[in-house]
Amino acid sequence: MSPTQKMKTSFAYLLPLILPMVSAQVAHWGPCPEPAVQQSFNLQKYLGKWYEIAKLPAQFEKGSCIEANYSIRADGTIKVYNSEILKGKLRSIEGTAVVQDINEPAKLAVSFSYVTPYTPYWVLSTDYEHSALVYSCTDVLRLFHFDFAWILSRMRSLPPETIQKAKDLFTNSSIDISKMIMTQQQGCDLEL
Ligand SMILES: *[C@@H]1O[C@H](CO)[C@@H](O)[C@H](O)[C@H]1NC(C)=O
Ligand SMILES: *[C@@H]1O[C@H](CO)[C@@H](O)[C@H](O)[C@H]1NC(C)=O
Repeated sequence: MSPTQKMKTSFAYLLPLILPMVSAQVAHWGPCPEPAVQQSFNLQKYLGKWYEIAKLPAQFEKGSCIEANYSIRADGTIKVYNSEILKGKLRSIEGTAVVQDINEPAKLAVSFSYVTPYTPYWVLSTDYEHSALVYSCTDVLRLFHFDFAWILSRMRSLPPETIQKAKDLFTNSSIDISKMIMTQQQGCDLEL
């Protein structure tokens, strides 16, 4: 079974678990859009720290000062270290990212535990040094899909014109970002 088939199968099993969750996510009728991804994606240049500037709301991300650090583990897998500040406390979670098809290096998948399936993590566009646009979409029996989108930055802020350009790129790719919200990235360097 290909990883994609496997992912679809495991999602089908998880359906009863996912459905109650979907209402809190952004759900749309029909199958996932198929946006173009970053050409010649260079994972090495993508590694390191990224700050979340804006996102389509995800239930598992409620805090502020959200950041991610991608690095390569000794065994060659990609470590995903996410952190946020929620109710005055620093919380973090570690996951693993994989490239599922070496011919499509910008199409990563991420999992945060052994019991949750890998979910897509597609880098639609990045210049590696300033910003990155990431998209994740899962369709359920091609009837509807729910998706996440993130605008990431190497710093805690981005110029408004960069954010607008990022939004235009999502929109041009048939991704509905009308529910996109900014992530609070202020007061993050205070002592907790
Ligand atoms: C990112 O994670 C790697 C591996 O754990 C660590 O060596 C590095 O210092 C971290 N970078 C930042 C900016 O936190
Ligand atoms: C979005 O599409 C418009 C119209 O085709 C184009 O002018 C613009 O450059 C595109 N923007 C991005 C960021 O892709």
